Amino acid sequence: MEERIKQLQQEAISALHQADDLIALQDVRVKILGKKGSLTEVMKGMRDLSAEERPAIGALVNAFKDQFESSFIARQLELQQRDIAAKLASEKIDVTLPGRKTASGSLHPVTLVTNEVVEIFSRLGFAVAEGPEIEEDFYNFEALNIPKDHPARDMQDTFYISDDRVLRTHTSPVQIRTMVKHKPPIRIIAPGTVYRRDSDLTHSPMFHQVEGFLVDKRVTFGDLKGVLTHFLNEFFGKGHNVRFRPSFFPFTEPSAEVDIECVICGGKGCRVCGKTGWLEILGCGMIDPEVFKSVDYDVDKYSGFAFGMGLERIAMLKYGVNDLRLFFDNDLRFLKQF
Ligand code: DAH
Repeated sequence: MEERIKQLQQEAISALHQADDLIALQDVRVKILGKKGSLTEVMKGMRDLSAEERPAIGALVNAFKDQFESSFIARQLELQQRDIAAKLASEKIDVTLPGRKTASGSLHPVTLVTNEVVEIFSRLGFAVAEGPEIEEDFYNFEALNIPKDHPARDMQDTFYISDDRVLRTHTSPVQIRTMVKHKPPIRIIAPGTVYRRDSDLTHSPMFHQVEGFLVDKRVTFGDLKGVLTHFLNEFFGKGHNVRFRPSFFPFTEPSAEVDIECVICGGKGCRVCGKTGWLEILGCGMIDPEVFKSVDYDVDKYSGFAFGMGLERIAMLKYGVNDLRLFFDNDLRFLKQF
């Protein structure tokens, strides 16, 4: 019996060492100490031993059990550590490797130009205002002194949503929306999207404008000329002559159109300025008293000026873009250049 125990002990210990993972290790434990395990069998057999034999065999069995337990724990620890080390090695992250480059976008040229216009006027104390793109007839036309029979209301130019709702055809309705809410003095710059039924080389059914206006006591045409000349010098650079030509808009009186000496040829005459040496940039004028009446402003107390311009147009001139459609095609080869 003694021999058998010693042999079993040797086999059990070497089985522990040979177990190569935690599952195999558990199997060895079951084979030795489980219900039908070999050591369990030995202990059951001790019932048949004589009283003299029992202590010695008992001591042997206990020693076996103790050694098996401690060897089991040691091997278990060894295997666990090996697994952790393997896991650490396989999941290692090299923080010194260069990262993946994320492509960064850039601002659309119309956005760039809008930001710059807003910035120049902000420095003169103008605040930004916005209005809805689906606009009521009253704001888009009526309050701006554009009567029902005015040609601008023609279905050829305007997208109608219903009889009295349109996609706004200009940013001028923001004038009315602002004046209805605020009393003078006010200085507003209002960029936004506008819509017209027009589509060819130089017209897009959706484009952008910026509206500006100022209302206060004793505002004169001289103020208008000073502010707009300053703006053009800031935006296109100093040294371009500017001229004001008489014109007509229903919401301003007197009205003017402003030209700048061609920024491409310097006034000599080229394809862009149609050989005239001048580029038409914006419309402007003194706000018509009829407009003030529609927003309940005292026409004897206040005067003001207003102006509006196309943002794609000034972007084309500033960046030398010769096709309007490039702004709407979303071709990255074009957009990435800004
Ligand atoms: N609303 C005009 C347009 O769409 C532009 C304009 C002209 C705005 C003269 C003004 C202005 O405020 O005074 O073409």
